[in-house]
Amino acid sequence: MAEDLSIIKGTKEEQYISLIPQIKGLLEGEEDLVANLANVAAALREQFGWFWVGFYLVKKDELVLGPFQGPVACTRIKKGRGVCGASWAEEKTLIVPDVEKFPGHIACSSLSKSEIVVPIIKDNNVVAVLDVDSELLNQFDTTDQQYLEQIVSFLNF
Ligand code: SME
Repeated sequence: MAEDLSIIKGTKEEQYISLIPQIKGLLEGEEDLVANLANVAAALREQFGWFWVGFYLVKKDELVLGPFQGPVACTRIKKGRGVCGASWAEEKTLIVPDVEKFPGHIACSSLSKSEIVVPIIKDNNVVAVLDVDSELLNQFDTTDQQYLEQIVSFLNF
């Protein structure tokens, strides 16, 4: 797989449809988890230009910051705290159109306005979450949910 990404313009769905085979190509033949998480975060940020894209990994009773693209971020999040900790506790994707209206939202940056968090579940346990933040309100919907859930399913934890 060539290490460059073909970035397209188009609808959100067209962008995911272009990106998904490229992400599969990036993951193919590479078993190192950190390398793969890093490339998935980079590919998503490159295509969509989101403010922050990254992973938090479940370690004991906390989420710990993993590979990401974007400004520096909080390193540890307790279960149930913030959007990431809530997604872990509820074991479901959370779409937050306005982070200021989400009780307990953790503001790593005041520039982040909307957010989606997708839990990654292995053997019935959440092992990590994918967190995506936008500087714009109301940027994420069920299209993002559908495709981001598909993308994280390619990762081998
Ligand atoms: N806003 C998240 C914290 C992580 S940062 O956005 C990168 C939350 O409320 O869980």
